[in-house]
Amino acid sequence: MSTRSIALANQKGGVGKTTTAVSLAACLAERGIHTLLLDLDPQANATSALGLEKLSGGSVYKALLGTALLADSIQPSGLEHLDIIPSEVDLAVAEVDVARAENYLQRLQFALTPIQGADRYEFIIVDCPPSLGILTMNGLAAVDSVMVPMQAEYFALEGLAVITRVLQQIRESGANPSLELEGIVLTMYDGRTNLAQQVAAEVRKHFPDKVYKTIIPRTVRLAEAPSFGKPITTYDTGSYAAKCYRSLTDELLAPPAAVPESTPTESAPKEEAPSSTPLPAA
Ligand SMILES: Nc1ncnc2c1ncn2[C@@H]1O[C@H](COP(=O)(O)OP(=O)(O)O)[C@@H](O)[C@H]1O
Ligand SMILES: [Mg+2]
Repeated sequence: MSTRSIALANQKGGVGKTTTAVSLAACLAERGIHTLLLDLDPQANATSALGLEKLSGGSVYKALLGTALLADSIQPSGLEHLDIIPSEVDLAVAEVDVARAENYLQRLQFALTPIQGADRYEFIIVDCPPSLGILTMNGLAAVDSVMVPMQAEYFALEGLAVITRVLQQIRESGANPSLELEGIVLTMYDGRTNLAQQVAAEVRKHFPDKVYKTIIPRTVRLAEAPSFGKPITTYDTGSYAAKCYRSLTDELLAPPAAVPESTPTESAPKEEAPSSTPLPAA
C-alpha cells in the first residue's frame, strides 16, 4: 500500500478548503479507506468541524520544529477509518519559528515521512491556511498533489495563476520536484448567475483536464454541518451536498474516463436548489 497525500490550498480564505478537506476525508473514510486529516491552519476550522477540542500542544507545531514525533499528535476523529492531527492557535507562532529553522520548506515533509512510510494510511489530506505563508509552503512541499477549491467569481483566474506559479516555485526549489496539481474544484457554486457560469467556462478553458466535473453547490447544509461537529456525510448523509462530495471522491479515486455519467454538474436538483444568495432584482 502506498500513501497518497493531497493538500487543499488556495491563498484566498472562505473558498471551501476546509469544507472540502473535511468532506473528502469523511467520504474516503466511509468507504473504509484509512485516512489522516492534517489541520495545518492555526484557525483550526477542520479540527472543530469534526467536533474536536483545540488542545494546546496537540498540533503539528512541535513536530515542525523537530522536538516531537508527528505520529504522537494523531488522534481518532470519532469517525471510523478517519484520524486527525488537530490544530490550535499556537500553530500561528510556527510561521515565525519555522522560518528560522534549517530546511524551512521541508519541515512538514520530514515530519510526515515516517507516517507515510508506516503505510498506516491510504490517504493524507492536508488543510492549508488561507495564505501562501510558511505553513502552506510546508504543506505543498510535503504532499504528492494539490487540490484547489475555488469560487466562480471575478479574479478567479488571477488567483489560479498565483497558485500555479507557487507550485512551480516549490518544484524548482527542489523541496518537492514532483508536486502535481491534482485538480480544481468549483465550490459554493450558484449556477443561477451568469457570472458563475462564465467563470466556470473560463477556468475549464484554461485548465481543460484539471477541473473536476463535480461542482459543489452553495447549500446551507454544508454551512451548518461544522457547528454540529460533523462532516456532511454524517450530518445529512442523503443530501445533495453529500452526494456531490461523494462524486468528487469518485473522480479522485478513478481515472477520468471511469467516472459515471450521472456525476452532478452545473445544476442542483429542484428539491434542494442552492439556498442563500438571493438573486438580484431583475
Ligand atoms: N458549498 C458551500 N455552501 C455553503 N456554505 C459553504 C460551502 N462551502 C463552505 N461553506 C461555508 O463557507 C465558509 C468558508 O468555507 P471554508 O471551507 O471554511 O473555506 P476556507 O477553508 O477556504 O477558508 C464556512 O463557513 C463554510 O461552512
Ligand atoms: Mg479553512
